[in-house]
Amino acid sequence: MTMRVTPAFLVHAEAEFSARLQKVVSLVSHVHVDVMDGIFVPNTTWADPVALDSLLPATITYEAHFMVVDPLRACARWKDASKLSRMIFHIETVHALRSLLDVVPKKKEFWLACNPETSYEKIQKTLRFADGILIMGVHPGFSAQAFEPNTLEKIRQIRSAQPKLHIAVDGGVDENTAPLLREAGADELVSASYLFSQTNIEKTIHYLEHV
Ligand code: DX5
Ligand code: ZN
Repeated sequence: MTMRVTPAFLVHAEAEFSARLQKVVSLVSHVHVDVMDGIFVPNTTWADPVALDSLLPATITYEAHFMVVDPLRACARWKDASKLSRMIFHIETVHALRSLLDVVPKKKEFWLACNPETSYEKIQKTLRFADGILIMGVHPGFSAQAFEPNTLEKIRQIRSAQPKLHIAVDGGVDENTAPLLREAGADELVSASYLFSQTNIEKTIHYLEHV
């Protein structure tokens, strides 16, 4: 099975988004956009649903990774974005799962994300409501942090309980961690600093796809 590889955009301005997009626009059909509110994480990002719909070509959809304290508010702001195909909410912020499920459009995938310190036991019961789980390999907030190795065991636990669930990993993905993540059971890798620092991004995506 080919690993899905998704470039991540943690940017502070529209121009920065556009410049990065040029580097992968002909190579991928889906990208990951980091949305931060400065409260759930100590950082903010540029991410605008209206602008993204016009900036992205027809060949590219995106997922929004909401690192925000108020998922219902984020959902209201983003639900009409046409190129947004996947909404990812942190399990640590979801206090009213039913209410959130009611407002996420049916055409969009509903994913949950979990921080390194959030255990398998804490997420186990909610997994059946999600189209996939985004496992954070770092504490959310910044790119280019070191991978948290305890993440591997959590991926193994989820994979053995849920053989068909999509498991993506975000944060700390590089040529050393990618083979371990695949072996643990991940089927998608999200990468910012490693991928965008490569001189040959196409070759790196190919390498990660077949890791
Ligand atoms: C972290 C973000 C990640 C980040 C990944 O809070 O959610 O998507 O951009 O960056 P790298 O790949 O550099 O760890
Ligand atoms: Zn992210």
